[in-house]
Amino acid sequence: MVNVAVLGYGTVGSGVVEVLNTNKEIIKRNVGEELKVKYVLDLREFEGDPVQEILVHDYDVILKDKDVKIIAEAMGGEEPAYTFTKNALLAGKSVCTSNKELVAKHGAELLEVAKANNANYLFEASVGGGIPIIRPLNDCITADEITEISGILNGTTNYILTEMSEKGAAFDDVLKEAQDKGYAERNPEADVEGYDACRKIAILTSLVTGAQVDFEDIHTEGITKITDVDFKYAKAMKASIKLLGISRKIDGKFYSMVAPFLIKENNPLYHVSGVFNGILVHGNMVDDLMFYGRGAGKRPTASAVVSDVVDAAKNLGKHIPVEWNRSKSEIGKFEECKSRFFVRMKDKGLDDDQMMTIIEAFGDVLYVKAEGVVDELAFITNEIREDDFSEHLKKFEDVYSVIRVDF
Ligand code: HSE
Repeated sequence: MVNVAVLGYGTVGSGVVEVLNTNKEIIKRNVGEELKVKYVLDLREFEGDPVQEILVHDYDVILKDKDVKIIAEAMGGEEPAYTFTKNALLAGKSVCTSNKELVAKHGAELLEVAKANNANYLFEASVGGGIPIIRPLNDCITADEITEISGILNGTTNYILTEMSEKGAAFDDVLKEAQDKGYAERNPEADVEGYDACRKIAILTSLVTGAQVDFEDIHTEGITKITDVDFKYAKAMKASIKLLGISRKIDGKFYSMVAPFLIKENNPLYHVSGVFNGILVHGNMVDDLMFYGRGAGKRPTASAVVSDVVDAAKNLGKHIPVEWNRSKSEIGKFEECKSRFFVRMKDKGLDDDQMMTIIEAFGDVLYVKAEGVVDELAFITNEIREDDFSEHLKKFEDVYSVIRVDF
């Protein structure tokens, strides 16, 4: 029997206990022996819940118990999760987590500590919830040079954008409805401003490059400026607007960003709707691979945490190598990234100067019309560097919106 402790009895932590109990026999078969939850750590009491019998409030009880070999960390946030994780690894216990903030910031260091102590730090659930993506990158797509990862990495924003697209509704109204239904947090900033997706693409890019990609270095835009009018144009172009985390290798360097993109049906991410996530990986031999599933939620996320617990139990006392060292990965400068841009601005009527300025700034653009939208000009530029684009855009007043185009 292998003893497990769960840190945090919130959504994910209680899900981990549920998965371990519900699928006890299947998990026993997969591990080769039984997994038993010996402790659950939480500051709260859970009267009437059987968890109360194994509930502890003092982390030292878990840390000092030599019988506990694996810890499922489902506390979230940086502290005390970082200290608890590091101390567990130093004591030779493996830690499995869904905590993307911690993994993005301290993943490389915690992997080092795990290696030095013949333990494992596993984080399948930190990206894409229940979707297996970390293990495939580490253990499966190992014969390829990975040249691109692009993904819908946040369920909340994908739900909001899908609703806006399908119902023609405004961002604020859909956000409020999503909050009322419990799909979006009361404080939705991390999701709608793209910070959550940014941490996830930082983790994936760190794994692909084998070195540290700091999320602070990734240009990040959220979806708060996307309007119902943008979706009218998207429909006219037979396109969809998705918040993408993208890392692309160009001339030997990865260029990463998080931003809303217009994509068309030939992109498999076009079909990823609602709370679902999708991650597209391109390898130079295997070509395109698509990973799809529930990127959030109690059971899917807990399923991914428990899959790591199973892996840790099968590898007790043995470190599973993960290429991610602490040296800083050299990612390309955002200003050098090239994109096509969809631009909407006020139409100044028969103003030849406006047309000339557009041609001077962006060359031959592709004009777009949307049903029912008047008094504005909308066009798609040719591919242009980020810094050149923003310099040229300064020449225009009354710009309503700018969205990158990936088709
Ligand atoms: N808030 C996240 C999302 C949860 O909406 O995708 C999973 O990381």
